[in-house]
Formats: sequence, structure tokens, C-alpha cells
Amino acid sequence: MLKAYYKSLEHDFNLLHGDMFELLPQFNFKFDMIFADPPYFLSNGGISVQSGKVVCVDKGDWDKGMSPDEINEFNLKWLSLCREKLKENGTIWISGTYHNIFSVANALTELDYKILNVITWAKTNPPPNISCRYFTYSTEFIIWARKSKKVPHYYNYEMMKYINGGKQMTDVWRLPAIAPWEKSCTKHPTQKPLGLLCRIILASTEPGAWILDPFAGSSTTGIAANLLGRRFLGIEREEKYAAISKARREEIENASTFATFRKKIPDIVKAEDKQQDFSICCESDVIEPLPFLASSAE
Ligand SMILES: C[S@@+](CC[C@H](N)C(=O)[O-])C[C@H]1O[C@@H](n2cnc3c(N)ncnc32)[C@H](O)[C@@H]1O
Repeated sequence: MLKAYYKSLEHDFNLLHGDMFELLPQFNFKFDMIFADPPYFLSNGGISVQSGKVVCVDKGDWDKGMSPDEINEFNLKWLSLCREKLKENGTIWISGTYHNIFSVANALTELDYKILNVITWAKTNPPPNISCRYFTYSTEFIIWARKSKKVPHYYNYEMMKYINGGKQMTDVWRLPAIAPWEKSCTKHPTQKPLGLLCRIILASTEPGAWILDPFAGSSTTGIAANLLGRRFLGIEREEKYAAISKARREEIENASTFATFRKKIPDIVKAEDKQQDFSICCESDVIEPLPFLASSAE
């Protein structure tokens, strides 16, 4: 049995502390969906502006640049491990910038995934470009792919159309970067906004789905999953980020915080209008724990 760093009482939020390359091969469970925000390899001493101040954009040693061959080998290896953890009809989402995303796309093709879409996340509030020698960087890409070329995937077409005011949702999503209320447990240097993860989860999973994030960071994926009645396993190598994840999960144990967060996410508000049921569907009220996971206390 693997030991959980943290496990919620309801068994719907599970966190492993360690290296995903070592931990993923140790269990057989298959997930409905994977979201991965892997290293982009862009921490090479660049600068940017945050809250009016010039700051170094280095995120940490885990994000330091590598040679193109090393980046390709890294992406091929983790995407291959993840493919084994997906159900036959499962899908995977991977975020990135030009630094890593072309390598990710090539690895997906090599591993026989089928690429479904490449979402452009157009940030509505990007930081300015202080050199004034380039266009302002304001986008990230998120590739959506399915495990199998033949087995159909789940896409909540009607919900996406409803959220988009009755018109088909396109692959360009205009969403803001993280808001101050999302930093209440201190912030991860590359924390994704909950609004982005909620759209991804609503589009590609049903209530009760199991979602894996192998590069969990502060577990934005897990918080969004639980706000939407889905279940989560995250893996994070750095203890300080696993600690932020645990604090974030404990924060939404409070029913009023849980409700407040849901009200702050426009896609959830719209999905509720459409009377989407966010409760986890189980025959009994008890959610089965992950079979390979002991809690840290056991
Ligand atoms: C881009 S960040 C993810 C941020 C996350 N999406 C969030 O919203 O907080 C990538 C994370 O992967 C972790 N990481 C890098 N290599 C890892 C590995 N081999 N196994 C597990 N975690 C790893 C890093 O410590 C970092 O926290």
C-alpha cells in the first residue's frame, strides 16, 4: 500500500508526496481524466512585472531549462506512464507554452494518443512586457487528447454551449489569471486559476469521475474537482507545495467557503443555472477509497 501525504475524510481528495516517475508504476488504478501542468522549462533567469514590481520569473529548480533532447525524453516518459493510468475512454489535458508544448504534442502522437483540440487560453489580464521589444505574452496552450484512436471520449457539448451563451464553445478561452481570493493559503509560483480547471473538468468528466494530476503543485485540479463533485489523486514532489494543497482542501471543508468559491467561478454559476447535479453519484453515500492508498496515520 502507498502512504498518502493527505487524504480527505470523504476519500475524494488524495495526495501523494514524491516523484511521479517512481509512484505511478506502483499502482494499477485507471482514471477518467488526467490534467497535467508539467514543467515548462522556462526558468532561465528572465524577468517580468508583478503588481508593478520587476521580478525574476524563475519558478524553481524543477522548471530549469534542459536540452531539446532531454525535454523530449522527459515528455515521452511521463506521458507513457500516464497513458497506462487512463481508462480506455479517458482523456488527458496538458498545459504549456512554446517552450514545451510542441514536444508534448510530438510525444502524444508517438504514443498513439489522439489529439482532440489545442485550447488557447487568452489571459484577460497578462503582465506587461517590460522590454517593449516583443508582443506581450498573453497566452498558454492546453492540449486535449484521448487515450485511444478508436474508443469515443466524453464531451459535455450542451454544457459548453450553454456556458458560451448558446453558441458552440470555441478553442479560444478568454479567462483571467488567478485572483487574490485564490491565494488565501499562499500561492504556488505557477498556480492555475480555478476557473480554467473548472471549465476543463465540466467539459470532459461526469460527476463522480476520478481525476489524476501527476504534477499537482497546490492542487488547483483537486480543488476544482471537489467543487464540482469529482474525485482527485494528486502527486507532488515538493513538500512545501503538498502542504499548500492540504491547506486548500481543508479550507473548502468549511461549507460557507465552499459555497463562496463556487459563486466566484462563472462556469459553475452557469452550470448550476442549467441544474447540473454536482453530487457524487454512488449507490450508497459512502465513497470507496482508492484501493492502493493508506492514509498517513495508518
Ligand atoms: C507547473 S507546477 C503545477 C502547478 C499546479 N497546476 C497548480 O495550480 O498549483 C508543476 C509542479 O510539478 C512538480 N513536479 C516536478 N517534477 C515532478 C515529479 N517528477 N514528480 C512530482 N511532481 C513534480 C513541481 O514541484 C511543481 O510543483
